[in-house]
Amino acid sequence: MAKNSLAIYLMLLIALSTVYETQGTFSLPLYLKNFPKVGQDFESFAYKGMKDFMGDLEGKCPETTEFKDFFVKLKDYMACYSSTSPGSKDLQVELSIKSEKLYRAMSAFSGTKGGTSEDSWTLVDGLLSMGKSLVEMKKSGSKEITFEQRKEFIQSMVNWTRGIGLFIKKVSENKGKSIDFSLFGIDYDTNVSSPSERALYETQ
Ligand SMILES: *[C@@H]1O[C@H](CO)[C@@H](O)[C@H](O)[C@H]1NC(C)=O
Ligand SMILES: *[C@@H]1O[C@H](CO)[C@@H](O)[C@H](O)[C@H]1NC(C)=O
Repeated sequence: MAKNSLAIYLMLLIALSTVYETQGTFSLPLYLKNFPKVGQDFESFAYKGMKDFMGDLEGKCPETTEFKDFFVKLKDYMACYSSTSPGSKDLQVELSIKSEKLYRAMSAFSGTKGGTSEDSWTLVDGLLSMGKSLVEMKKSGSKEITFEQRKEFIQSMVNWTRGIGLFIKKVSENKGKSIDFSLFGIDYDTNVSSPSERALYETQ
C-alpha cells in the first residue's frame, strides 16, 4: 500500500513539473499581448521580456562557461540602454566597451565562426534594432505609443529575440544539444506571418 502511493505521488510530481515547465517558458507572442500604451512604460516592459527570455534560453543551453559568459555579456550590453541617458556620449562609450566584450564571448564558441557567421550578424541587427527602440521610447515619455511605433517596436523585439535565439540554437547544436524553440513562439519561417505579428493585430 505504502509502496503504491509513493509511486502515484512520484507520477503526479512528474506530471506537475511538465505542466510547470510548459507554462514557465517565455512565449513572445503571449508576452506581446500586454504591450504598453505609453512610451515610458516600454522600457520596463522590454527589459522584463528580455530578462525572462534570456533566463529561459540559458536554462536550455549546455552548462558551459562559454554559454554563461555569453549571457553575462549580453545582459551587460543591454543594461547600457537603461543605465545611461539616451543619445549621450556616455552611452556610445559604454556600448563600444560592452559590444567588444560581447563579441569576444561570441567568438569563444569554438567550432562556429564566432563573430563572423551569418547568425551573428542577425544577432547584432537584433541588438541594434532593440537599442534604437529603447532610446526612442525613452525620449517619448508619457506620450501614447502610435500604431506605427508599436509595429516597429514589436518588430524590434521579434528581431532581437530571433537573433539571439538563432545564434544560440546554432552554437548549442554544435555542442550536441538541440533546443526546442516552438515554446518561445519564434521558430516560424520568415515568409509566414509570425505569431507576434498576429498578436499585434489581435490586440488592436
Ligand atoms: C527586422 O528584421 C527584418 C529582417 O531582417 C528587417 O527587414 C527589419 O527592418 C527589422 N526591423 C527592425 C525594426 O529593425
Ligand atoms: C516566400 O514566399 C514566396 C511567395 O509565396 C515564394 O515565392 C518564396 O519562395 C518563399 N520563400 C521562402 C524562403 O520560402
